[in-house]
Amino acid sequence: MEVAALFAVTLLLGALVVLVALAVGRRKEEIREEIEQAAEFAAIGGVAKGPASKKPKQEKQRSRKDKPSQHTFSHQLLAASLKSHSANVTCLDFSSNGKYLASCAEDRTVRIWSTKDFLDREHKCLRANVDLDYATLVRFSPDSRAFITWLANGDTIRIFKMIKKEDGTFSFKASSEDFPQKHKAPILNIGIAETGKFIMTASTDTSIYIWDLKGDVLASINTNQITNSYAAVSPCGRFVASCGFTPDVKVWEVCFGKGGEFKEVARAFDLKGHSAGVHAFAFSNDSRRMVTVSKDGTWKLWNTDVEYKKQQDPYLLKTVPCVSSEGSLVALSPDGRVVAISDGCNVAMYSAATGQLEEELHGVHSEEINDLRFDINGRFLVCSGDKAIRVFHNTPGYRAAIRDMQDMLKKAQNEAMKQRLQQQIRDAQSSLDTVLAAPVD
Ligand SMILES: *[C@@H]1O[C@H](CO)[C@@H](O)[C@H](O)[C@H]1NC(C)=O
Repeated sequence: MEVAALFAVTLLLGALVVLVALAVGRRKEEIREEIEQAAEFAAIGGVAKGPASKKPKQEKQRSRKDKPSQHTFSHQLLAASLKSHSANVTCLDFSSNGKYLASCAEDRTVRIWSTKDFLDREHKCLRANVDLDYATLVRFSPDSRAFITWLANGDTIRIFKMIKKEDGTFSFKASSEDFPQKHKAPILNIGIAETGKFIMTASTDTSIYIWDLKGDVLASINTNQITNSYAAVSPCGRFVASCGFTPDVKVWEVCFGKGGEFKEVARAFDLKGHSAGVHAFAFSNDSRRMVTVSKDGTWKLWNTDVEYKKQQDPYLLKTVPCVSSEGSLVALSPDGRVVAISDGCNVAMYSAATGQLEEELHGVHSEEINDLRFDINGRFLVCSGDKAIRVFHNTPGYRAAIRDMQDMLKKAQNEAMKQRLQQQIRDAQSSLDTVLAAPVD
């Protein structure tokens, strides 16, 4: 892509996001904050080059000679392929401040990418080495200043602090002691509550541990689901949920007292409706919606914004047929408008409101997709499955936002409001057209 064209797309996309943000009622302050963040990224990006950006160059030369059959993939919606890892990426996580994407790989490194340069030609990243081991899972701490990893050989949690040096660069420091080993079966997922009150680890043998941040076990859960395929902490940090062989998804509340002391893990509610085992589930960012994908050949959308203490059950909002298989993952965009489901090396994107299949991405990776998630603004869908990280434009999300603005327009009372919405719809549509008209490379 020409630099000028790339620039134009970047600007237009920026404009679209601001417009969409305005349409959903984001405050000016938040937008100002984003602009300030952008300046900080530029500063970080400038010093993040060094060893991280040298390596891919060498790899490129090597790959031309020795590995001519490397997996190639192109697609209209592909915004970027992040390539610095020299072995398969196994996990991705966005920081809750929206600035960073973390990835870990079998190359014994964790990489921290700046989300602001996804649309740039170069993708710089910071590198943290995992000494004498490698990380298979990575999750940011709520303050985005640390991350936790699951050690493949150590079979436990290691915490890394991101230390911002005076010159604005980062260094990474592993905490002096890893957590004690507890799990006796392969690990499924780890999580850290947005409240900063606990860490969760879950393994296939139906055991979940709840830890404090120092590495002491607060509680253990037996999910009683025969085997588990997925477990996660909700974005609000109140709940832990699991799924597996049985057709239900079980949700627990991790309860703390007023003084912040741990009290108990209590059953909250179940998602009941699938007729076979559940591969995976995901939450919307406010934890009021969940989506599940099952062996029964459907995905289901749930309203989980219920008073379960008054015996209210979650409402089933939608059931949609889909292709899935053992290892399928599901992602729900932060605003709950788009559902993405992986099946082997493929991804399908659906409208959550209509259930319509909107995009199909085939052969995204050379191996099975092992992570799939939206960025916190819902602009991008990212996934991993080989050495590269694929970043896609969330065009179904843009279309859904435009549809919602059109609905608002129909209900709008005053003329000024109508005109503003009309202008926003026109601008959003033309920005979307630009993404779709960009050359595929
Ligand atoms: C969830 O995402 C939407 C859309 O991106 C945003 O407007 C909202 O503030 C987010 N809510 C939370 C709790 O993060």
